Amino acid sequence: MTKKAWGGRFTNDAVEWVDEFNASIHFDQILIDVDIRGSIAHAEMLYKCNILSEDEKETIIKGLKEVQADYHNNLLELNVVNEDIHMNVESALIQKIGPVGGKLHTARSRNDQVATDMHLYVKEKVSEVILSIESLQNVILDLAKNNIDIIMPGYTHLQRAQPILFSHHIMAYFWMLKRDKERFTDSLKRIDISPLGAGAISGTTFDIDRVYTQTELGFSDIYQNSMDAVSDRDYIVETLSNINLVMIHLSRISEELIFWTTEEAGFVTLSDSFTTGSSMMPQKKNPDMAELIRGKTGRTTGALLSMLMTLKGLPLTYNKDMQEDKEGLFDALTTVQGSLRVMSGMLETMTINQQVLSDTVNKDFSNATELADYLVNKGVPFRDSHEIVGTLVLKCVNDGHYLQDLTMEEFKSASDLIEDDIYHILSPETVVNRRISHGSTGTEAVLKQIKLAGQTMNE
Ligand code: ARG
Repeated sequence: MTKKAWGGRFTNDAVEWVDEFNASIHFDQILIDVDIRGSIAHAEMLYKCNILSEDEKETIIKGLKEVQADYHNNLLELNVVNEDIHMNVESALIQKIGPVGGKLHTARSRNDQVATDMHLYVKEKVSEVILSIESLQNVILDLAKNNIDIIMPGYTHLQRAQPILFSHHIMAYFWMLKRDKERFTDSLKRIDISPLGAGAISGTTFDIDRVYTQTELGFSDIYQNSMDAVSDRDYIVETLSNINLVMIHLSRISEELIFWTTEEAGFVTLSDSFTTGSSMMPQKKNPDMAELIRGKTGRTTGALLSMLMTLKGLPLTYNKDMQEDKEGLFDALTTVQGSLRVMSGMLETMTINQQVLSDTVNKDFSNATELADYLVNKGVPFRDSHEIVGTLVLKCVNDGHYLQDLTMEEFKSASDLIEDDIYHILSPETVVNRRISHGSTGTEAVLKQIKLAGQTMNE
């Protein structure tokens, strides 16, 4: 049986399935590279502070690199008795270089070690998520630029509201993603902090140099309180929360795509690579990727809630509950990366069915507000014009056609202020392009928006 690193004060043998329950090695082995980086920096610091000799430091660092290589070559035997990646690495190191390997843990606890690993890991992953968000923003920008004039129905309550530009619609997601990116970037301030040297709870009696390891590891700051350093998991909650906002945004686009690809709408067609067929119904082309992103949003939300619940009421400082900070986070990071990538691919390869969209906006009442505004411009109080147009809409519904199909006589009988120019006013192109306010759906405004959006990408 493997001897435990902390076995000194124990007499009874451990029970295998309890070791299994206690261990985190199944999921925390992905920290191996940051763990070794942290250990090398720690060894360098111990040498610099005259706690390790040069020989000892060199032997330890060489050994650590070999353990790392063994891991990547599938030669490292991982064991639940050694609980986690930190102790598995230490045990392999001691096996390799002998008892001097045991000196590495001087002035360090697994509590500041695991916190250091997690800070390094989350920092790296958050930077990758930021890049994936940027890629998706670029896809959206191109989509908007290349389809600038396509008009589609805009919805409220999922009922046709007013015609809009497809480019305007899709650009709304660009701005959501911009906020997501900003949130992640801002969070780096709170992730990029070194807990190393905090020890188990209270610091250490050795005269170490925390700033040295901070700089070696590329952290921009250090924790000022050792107890905060080992028990802070705020940055994990924050990262999960930021991931969740991205996922919520992606799930909203997904829902739109799912609707847009229905036979009932037919606004876009997803490429074959991002859809699947049915095992029974030969005609089916299902938007599985969009549905999966929508579905996975539930899972990432679960990870956030689980982290919050784990921390609720947890006394200072380290408690084993904190080992539960990993699986949900790792899973959420993989999920958001996969979802961003799939969304980029899906949007990049979809076909916009311009004719369907054009037919759609020519056969609906989404121009009703225009007629109301037209009368207001001729001096009719808005409430009265609303009533007049409402009556005309009802008449059209009963007669089975749309406002633009009414004869001049029919218009006149509703209000003699209506002139021939109404047909032009009611066309979807006019409806869209009369919108000139900043941030509106008019082509000029959308072009301006796209230009500004492009500039934000270089900030
Ligand atoms: N595997 C542990 C975790 O992830 C490492 C820290 C263990 N510390 C301790 N005192 N048991 O939280």
